[in-house]
Amino acid sequence: MKIAIASDHGGFDLKANLIAYYQEKGLTLQDMGTYSSDSCDYPDIAEKLCQAILAGTFETGILVCGTGIGISIAANRHKGIRAAVLYSDDVARLAREHNNANVAVFGGRTMTKEEACRRMDIFLQTEFEGGRHQRRIDKLDK
Ligand code: RB5
Repeated sequence: MKIAIASDHGGFDLKANLIAYYQEKGLTLQDMGTYSSDSCDYPDIAEKLCQAILAGTFETGILVCGTGIGISIAANRHKGIRAAVLYSDDVARLAREHNNANVAVFGGRTMTKEEACRRMDIFLQTEFEGGRHQRRIDKLDK
């Protein structure tokens, strides 16, 4: 599975934690920046990762900012991107089952490393249910 990850400065530490967690499990996340804790703008970060997903270079993306809100708003302006802030374990599952989310979003200042890693595991292990949910997703991109 090809997964890309990116964050602004507010998500920089949590991004590093997610990369290390999956590295230990033998899964390399492609780090698309930011590469320091210097201030940067989350729309630029979301743009870079979303274009790579839409081009088919990666199947799944992970985005992190301070709250998860700004970067999810930016990501969801791209047609074909379904970015979900995983604010609970149940939501991590439902974002896949019902929304076929292709980008998982976390808040570096609002979630712990343990919460983010656990929710990302749930997200990756859960399949889209299709059916009535596919009809709704089709309407999003019209
Ligand atoms: C950056 O300070 C912060 O505003 C950003 O990371 C994010 O939380 C915005 O929604």
